[in-house]
Amino acid sequence: MRLASASAPGKVILFGEHAVVYGQPAIAVPLSSVQATVIAEQGAPGTGLVVDAPQVAVTVCVTNGRVGGGYYNALVYPAQITLEALQQPIPDMRMTLTSTIPIASGLGSGAAIATAIIRGLSQALDASLDLDELNDLVYNVEMRHHGTPSGIDNTVIVYEQPVYFVRGEPIETFHIAEPLTLLVADSGQASPTRTAVEDVRALYDSAPEHYDAIFAEIGQIAQRARAAIESGALAELGELMTANHALLQDITVSSEGLDRLVAAAQSAGALGAKLSGGGRGGNMIALVTPDRAAAVSRALYANGAVTVLETTVQPAG
Ligand code: PMV
Repeated sequence: MRLASASAPGKVILFGEHAVVYGQPAIAVPLSSVQATVIAEQGAPGTGLVVDAPQVAVTVCVTNGRVGGGYYNALVYPAQITLEALQQPIPDMRMTLTSTIPIASGLGSGAAIATAIIRGLSQALDASLDLDELNDLVYNVEMRHHGTPSGIDNTVIVYEQPVYFVRGEPIETFHIAEPLTLLVADSGQASPTRTAVEDVRALYDSAPEHYDAIFAEIGQIAQRARAAIESGALAELGELMTANHALLQDITVSSEGLDRLVAAAQSAGALGAKLSGGGRGGNMIALVTPDRAAAVSRALYANGAVTVLETTVQPAG
């Protein structure tokens, strides 16, 4: 018997990755064309809580607080902290997880999987979590996986709204004046965010003033980008993206492949382009006018993109 079904979108960071870890503002939007989905079904008595991810051939089981099966963290930890928060015993339940969000490529796969599991499990147990409670739990999972996450991924994915995010401050959303047509291209190089964040930390520790100045510049770009989104100044928004990319190169989180994709997008007529997320691989984004989308997409494929998603960020309402 099906008890619940829940899902969560991916996300893209438009501005401010890495600098956001150091207190600067960043902008991110949900990417609803890719989703993580969980279906929760009643399990046979005594089977405990089984989380099954058939796409990666992984099944884990939580019985009496013990974890069996191989891959532990990403699937079991969200379920464990949910049961703890809800003060519920381990139920006899089977949760099946599927996802169309590429893993380790800057699209928020980890946070979306955790969100879908926590939502699905709490709904199946008839225990409601409000968005703030859900966000706290998903942030807890992010900390477990990434060390020192800023919290931007869980926030944009849980609230499913464009966010102007400052670490430790209440969620702030904003007005979008004109639809934003974005191409999200996967460089094909998997790259764990944690390593990039740790490397940036080492650079920062070696010359804090120098890197503080770069982060402050990125923060100013994010502020100006918000104003450009709110007024529909798309040409300026594109230029700000490209300027943000150059600063990400300065902090060593770009890669040859990403730089090639950014250059290709611009030559093909994008308004601007940059890497998105942890960098070193993963995804880049290009802002385009709808009439250039096909040409820019072709240029991205011709320059090494493995997949290109087109998405439009719509004004609310
Ligand atoms: O790689 P992603 O998409 O999970 O983004 C990470 C964003 C960083 O700013 C690099 C890290 C963080 O915790 O905000």
